[in-house]
Amino acid sequence: MNNILVTGGAGFIGSNFVNYLLRTEPGVSVVNLDKLTYAGSLENLKALPDPGRHTFVHGDICDQTLIEKTLREYQIDTIVHFAAETHVDRSILGPDRFIQTNIVGTHNLLKCARRYWFIDEAPAIQQRVRFHHISTDEVFGSLGPDEPPFSERTPYAPNSPYAASKAASDHLVRSYFHTYQFPVTITNCSNNYGPYQFLEKLLPLMISNALQGLPLPVYGDGKQIRDWLYVEDHCQAIWTVLKRGQPGETYNVGGDNQPINLTVIETLCDILDELRPASKHIPHRSLIQHVPDRPGHDRRYAMDISKIKRELGWQPKHSLDEGLMKTVSWYLDHPDWVEQIRSQGDYQSWIEKNYQKRGDIS
Ligand code: NAD
Ligand code: TYD
Repeated sequence: MNNILVTGGAGFIGSNFVNYLLRTEPGVSVVNLDKLTYAGSLENLKALPDPGRHTFVHGDICDQTLIEKTLREYQIDTIVHFAAETHVDRSILGPDRFIQTNIVGTHNLLKCARRYWFIDEAPAIQQRVRFHHISTDEVFGSLGPDEPPFSERTPYAPNSPYAASKAASDHLVRSYFHTYQFPVTITNCSNNYGPYQFLEKLLPLMISNALQGLPLPVYGDGKQIRDWLYVEDHCQAIWTVLKRGQPGETYNVGGDNQPINLTVIETLCDILDELRPASKHIPHRSLIQHVPDRPGHDRRYAMDISKIKRELGWQPKHSLDEGLMKTVSWYLDHPDWVEQIRSQGDYQSWIEKNYQKRGDIS
């Protein structure tokens, strides 16, 4: 593994992964291909270590000519595929882009890589190629209160257009292994949090709103359950699967915790009270407001991560409390980054579109 193509590497997890690779793996070069949608930003790549081993390519994973050219030009032997439309609420209000990028785009990558690695290219490279697909626990649907956590054998039952488009992409990846013996691995991961997460997702939205004294909009009763993983632990899991995972296998990745949303938000508020004792918005918990629920909102996710622990020796390093403290500290230490997103027209119009009709957020 030498020349790694990372797709979506200007987004949240992708930029953390590029940073992780350059910091920990001196032998690899990274080509980072990203369309720079509203969710991607070159600001996320400004602090990369050893930037000489990083090349940025601005483009769309659906563009066959560009993907073929990039694979050849940089002699790519490994693809780590993050690029996607990722926000459930946006998929509810406008699913089309999710179908295009997540399904059509993933298939375009598979098709181009298969052609380059197995049809046109000399056999030498074939021994070390790998296509790793980043997926989500949301493909499994929603758990009842007493059901066991999702395992790799849980049937898919996606409930949102986002989850359905990721499920479809997982199926395409799987089909390439079974039909063409194309060497794929898949990780299905739970909710990530940490530095560089776009402000529309739960945790950064709450931190950013709390700092401004804006309402903290909790969907429904706030008792939905997610499993939370600090992003650096996810990066390490992906690298572990690239090094030791078996082609054709899927691995569940998660943080081994399942708090209700309200508990996570209250913990964030308490951390802000501690780190910003002079804030005029203390106690930040007083900003919490319940707003109408997300349509079709999945109630509970939980991950069984025993396979990746047992077979590959990976487990999360950060407890939720440690991860939340690091995350809040990062957002407090990067006010310019936060402001740059908050001032984007797209962000403002999204906030209006998603929350104004709920009626409870300014
Ligand atoms: P993100 O929304 O922060 O970033 C997505 C990136 O993909 C952006 O940089 C965007 O510009 C790029 N992109 C979008 N469409 C593109 C296209 N057509 N061509 C090229 N680039 C394109 O997403 P994220 O939270 O970092 O998620 C990354 C991956 O991890 C996704 O596949 C997502 O489904 C998966 N995942 C995310 C989470 C999570 O909690 N965030 C959990 C599990 C799995
Ligand atoms: P989110 O970060 O959008 O991730 P996902 O929907 O992929 O799990 O949301 C995490 C949880 O937080 C989810 O249960 C929805 C809830 N939520 C709110 O209560 N309020 C909000 O403003 C947002 C964005 C999410």
